[in-house]
Amino acid sequence: MTQVKIGIIGGSGLYKMDALKDVKEVTVSTPFGSPSDAFIVGNLEGTTVAFLARHGRNHHLLPTELPFRANIYAMKKLGVEYIISASAVGSLKEEVKPLDLVVPDQFIDRTKNRVSTFFGDGIVAHIAFGDPVCPNLAKVLADAVESLNLPDVALHRGGTYLCMEGPAFSTKAESNLYRSWGATIIGMTNLQEAKLAREAEIAYATLALVTDYDCWHPDHDHVTVEMVIGNLHRNAINAQKVIQETVRRLSENLPTSAAHSALKYAILTPLD
Ligand code: ADE
Repeated sequence: MTQVKIGIIGGSGLYKMDALKDVKEVTVSTPFGSPSDAFIVGNLEGTTVAFLARHGRNHHLLPTELPFRANIYAMKKLGVEYIISASAVGSLKEEVKPLDLVVPDQFIDRTKNRVSTFFGDGIVAHIAFGDPVCPNLAKVLADAVESLNLPDVALHRGGTYLCMEGPAFSTKAESNLYRSWGATIIGMTNLQEAKLAREAEIAYATLALVTDYDCWHPDHDHVTVEMVIGNLHRNAINAQKVIQETVRRLSENLPTSAAHSALKYAILTPLD
């Protein structure tokens, strides 16, 4: 099977860039069923990368329905050591504006209906998750954003991503509660990816594309799908540029990551 060190999880249009060469589709099977879709594997900046459309290329999977374990297992099977994720989020802070980019460093889990571990069924393990994002990979990603000097787009380094279950957006009471907790952005997908990537000893960092002010802001309309899609399309070229520049930087220098040895002290069950 093709071996790929860098995996990218994002929207279905993310891999449609001229710079991606020698593109092929790779189907990966896993003990957790099929991933969201076939992987799009190609050469970007001289490096082989594997793209996965998180919700499927036809966007047919709800956040709750995403096969998170299959997606991360398939990445591991392909040889992936670094995952860069990209996704739409709402802003929970005035200064984080629609079209801004955030590279979060923390998560709050408000999901209820998802399996978020590879362990259990006889194997007990507890990974460290105090720093849920690989700081070294996040720095490469944020530095890439900064170097592009994107017009009218502010970069926010760090911040707390609140992961909610969905699919309905939040109530105002919930949105204000999350604001009172100090959360920066809100989305529906990244927490399980980060946790399972850590269990799989894959470094993970995420690029959050701000599309709305959720429903707390007195001067802005409440979030709608139309608003999210409209701003995502406006931001699509920026996201592609950021991914390309990040991969270019990674192809020059792959950072060390504590995630690569996350299981060293995590497994309790004797395995011999
Ligand atoms: N994705 C984009 N905007 C969002 C919001 N306001 N809440 C949850 N997920 C989102």
